[in-house]
Amino acid sequence: MVQKDSLYVVMGLLDADSIAYAIGREIQRGGGRVVYTVQNDRLKRVFFDRSDRLTPEEKAALTIEFCDVTRDAEVRDLFCRVGPVAGVVHSIAFANPKTCLGDDLYTEALDDLKTAFHISCASLATVAHYARPHMPGGGAVVALSFESRKAFPFYNWMGVNKAALEALVRALARQYGRQLMRVNAISAGPLTTRAAKAIPHYAHLARTWRKLSPLPWDPLEDKLAVAHAAAFLLGPYSKKITGQVLYVDGGASVVGGNLLPQERPHGADEIAALVEQGLSLSPE
Ligand SMILES: NC(=O)c1ccc[n+]([C@@H]2O[C@H](COP(=O)([O-])OP(=O)(O)OC[C@H]3O[C@@H](n4cnc5c(N)ncnc54)[C@H](O)[C@@H]3O)[C@@H](O)[C@H]2O)c1
Repeated sequence: MVQKDSLYVVMGLLDADSIAYAIGREIQRGGGRVVYTVQNDRLKRVFFDRSDRLTPEEKAALTIEFCDVTRDAEVRDLFCRVGPVAGVVHSIAFANPKTCLGDDLYTEALDDLKTAFHISCASLATVAHYARPHMPGGGAVVALSFESRKAFPFYNWMGVNKAALEALVRALARQYGRQLMRVNAISAGPLTTRAAKAIPHYAHLARTWRKLSPLPWDPLEDKLAVAHAAAFLLGPYSKKITGQVLYVDGGASVVGGNLLPQERPHGADEIAALVEQGLSLSPE
């Protein structure tokens, strides 16, 4: 679905479980070329150390650049270095779990709130600003969001940032439309990654999805479904789509209340058992 031989920058690689990695692989499967970004040199080493399920050859074949999105010069230099790109994926978020994802929304740690907003939301505008001159045909930007119209326990300030991110996607779509650059977001269901595990009671969130999602939702395997949607939004088949939030969440966002037992999807219990086993999710 992506443009063959075109270059895509996929930002936010931490390990082989990252959504960024799933999206990058899907782009490559579709014939695109990928430059991944990690935040810094230390995290590149973390990637190589942690991604056990990749062979040394697979690791060596990856093109990985550094880019801390809070540093304008790094974002600018990244796009100058990599040359013309057809699309960019912003798969980046951070909030200090102690101050931003606790029991209480009230916090005196305003610097932490600013950092969370800078990394998880405002940096999308920085990325769009510096990417645009290097997207000759217009290009596409895709950000990753999580259901922001509902309040989930402990998701607190990250939920607020996701709502802001989605508003920013619409504003950027408006600004860049005349230059043919499209900006969209994917709102994904819970997927087991490093960032997800940092959310207090992530297990509760993953279990909640089983009660809400009319389609079976697998937090381990459904990164691929998210990657398919990203490839669609990056490629020519979504040419007239911009400013949208595409929900890839098994349909959980549209149901009111928990599913009745007879509405639960076939296979949900088997997925649940595998997920619990594989992740040793902590009890609720
Ligand atoms: N995992 C989920 O359940 C889920 C669901 C919906 C949306 N998302 C979103 O998907 C995106 C990717 O998260 P993930 O789950 O793959 O986790 P992840 O931990 O693999 O990725 C988060 C990435 O953000 C990077 N990052 C943090 N601060 C940065 C900075 N200053 N500069 C550059 N990079 C920085 C981290 O290094 C990491 O690579 C995030 O926006 C997340 O909110 C995740």
